[in-house]
Amino acid sequence: MRARKKLGLGILASGTGSNFDAIARACANGEIDAEVRVLVCNRPGAAVLEKATVHGVKAVVVPHARYPDRREFDGAVADVLHAHDTELVVMAGFDRVVTGQLLSRFPQRVVNIHPSLLPAFKGLDAQGQAVEYGARIAGATVHLVDDDVDHGPILVQAAVPVLPDDDAETLRLRILAQEHRIYPRAIQLFAEGRVRVDGRRVRITGSVAPPKTAALVNPQVGDTGEN
Ligand code: GRF
Repeated sequence: MRARKKLGLGILASGTGSNFDAIARACANGEIDAEVRVLVCNRPGAAVLEKATVHGVKAVVVPHARYPDRREFDGAVADVLHAHDTELVVMAGFDRVVTGQLLSRFPQRVVNIHPSLLPAFKGLDAQGQAVEYGARIAGATVHLVDDDVDHGPILVQAAVPVLPDDDAETLRLRILAQEHRIYPRAIQLFAEGRVRVDGRRVRITGSVAPPKTAALVNPQVGDTGEN
């Protein structure tokens, strides 16, 4: 059987890079039909740069502080992405808000992951917000990026319980484990050409397996264990 042509990814990241690592790994082991063509990082010295070296991925540092405004910075980032044949822009812990300058060059082709069940808990420290709010269920969202922060159409979400002793850090780790599962899967939907955007709703063409459990209930008060 002829191998599927690989989808070219350009990843934008600023920090630790555990999502970068999960995606690069999924590409390398053939779990997804994609290849990371370039990492663009805005912070010299960020740990994600070492991960790029480990995976043999080209990394380009574009320090945002060198640019007079967001538009010029985004123009420079988009130039690097284009120069490396990026077909899908993957924001993975990128700490800059992207503008139309970049979005217009990759229409419906910029995705982000946020550590909450959007539209709840947008912005910084989503996990801490969920704990403080007393939410019982939290999670992660992969979404398309539009002009508003943490707002574009939703591709995939994963839910986790918030446990009584959780703080922002323990919840962050529980959510992060799910991020590493769902981000590669969301990218694979693009690789398979199955993503159709219909207003706010994303339609996934072809067959989609229904979730194994009907609902996550937390706490399972008065529950027989069946869900
Ligand atoms: C993740 O929690 C992601 O949801 C958010 O930024 C964090 C990045 O973590 N957008 P890492 O750098 O991928 O480890």
